[in-house]
Amino acid sequence: MDPETLKLLLDPDGYALLDSLPPYDESLAMALSERLRADGHAPALVAAALTQSRLRKKAHEKFADFAADMLFTADGLEQATRLPVAARHAERFAGAGVRTVEDLGCGIGSDSMAFAAMDLNVRAVDSDEVTAAIATMNLRHFPSASVTHARAEDVDLTGADGVWLDPARRDNGSRLFDPEAFSPPLSFVSEVAERVSAVGAKLGPGIPHASIPAGAEAQWVSVDGGVVEAGLWFGALARAGVGKAALVLGPGGAVELTDVDLPGQDVGEVGDYLYEPDGAVIRAGLVTGLLPITDGRLIDPKIAYVTSDRAVDTPLATGYVIDDVLPMSLKKLRAYLAERNVGIVTIKKRGSNIVPEQLRQQLRLSGDNEATIVLTRVGKSHLAMVVRPLEHAGEHAHDKR
Ligand SMILES: C[S@@+](CC[C@H](N)C(=O)[O-])C[C@H]1O[C@@H](n2cnc3c(N)ncnc32)[C@H](O)[C@@H]1O
Repeated sequence: MDPETLKLLLDPDGYALLDSLPPYDESLAMALSERLRADGHAPALVAAALTQSRLRKKAHEKFADFAADMLFTADGLEQATRLPVAARHAERFAGAGVRTVEDLGCGIGSDSMAFAAMDLNVRAVDSDEVTAAIATMNLRHFPSASVTHARAEDVDLTGADGVWLDPARRDNGSRLFDPEAFSPPLSFVSEVAERVSAVGAKLGPGIPHASIPAGAEAQWVSVDGGVVEAGLWFGALARAGVGKAALVLGPGGAVELTDVDLPGQDVGEVGDYLYEPDGAVIRAGLVTGLLPITDGRLIDPKIAYVTSDRAVDTPLATGYVIDDVLPMSLKKLRAYLAERNVGIVTIKKRGSNIVPEQLRQQLRLSGDNEATIVLTRVGKSHLAMVVRPLEHAGEHAHDKR
């Protein structure tokens, strides 16, 4: 969004028009736009208001009903922390006794909103003028928060209490992978962590373990099965003894696994059940943490599948009942599925370079039944496991963990 467009929206008439719009419906947007222009509203304002209306609808996923009272840029929304995760960030700062958080690169202000909602004072900056203005708008209900258009590198951190950084990981829409290409770069995060006693940073889940600064706690977070970030926590915000952690947030609440007392690898035969670890557990390198929880073992030291002889419900992994294990052979798998009238297969894989789409065609499926196939390997042997999701297995007596 350019500053002129933002100005139109922030004008009282512009904002009133935005707030008067019905819930966004793509199929009615064109007609609505025509009607508003026919009513005398400037075309640029109508376009800006409809874009905001569309972004507010999209933002509901991250901000629930708060979205209806916020402004966004498409990029700002894309990069914003979803509120339940931002609330976890804020809890860390509040729990460590921090009173004021400097949010260095605040975007549209999601993390800052959570800090302010937890009664922390917030001094936020963003190097993009329009984004800083939007954050100001989104934080308007919090008198303890202020936003300045400035670069993180230019903020005087003398005497700073706590610092939060969520570096931009995109350049002209394309995703950056080198932590030194982020803005500000990871080395700046480390420098700040040397100067300030409570520092937190949000990075992408793909951050290589080797890039994690020494002494930081790294916590991978997943929400409803998707890994959303790796949080780095320094100084007073890092938990004693925790190097890596996986926090899994879902409908059942929050469950965490850490590397404190992480068991060693136990590898053994494929049993009755298969557990596919949550992505946060895999990214954090904590798959063996599932072994005591499932009474299980790895099927192979290098493959992130756990097997066991017990059905266990855990948010940290998706469980399956293993119905059959076949050596991976196209002919045998085709015959197996044909015999059972399987016309639809879900193919999952780990440690196999088979392309599921190609395999699906080669299987020449027909029939009314469905099956889930897991392609993997144990040592050098490639396997096809036929599985059923545990929750649909009609298991009565399985444990909750
Ligand atoms: C990932 S977003 C922040 C998202 C924010 N935490 C939220 O949840 O809404 C990163 C922001 O940093 C800003 N930025 C990039 N480089 C910066 C710098 N050197 N100083 C200050 N802000 C910067 C970008 O304009 C962008 O808005």
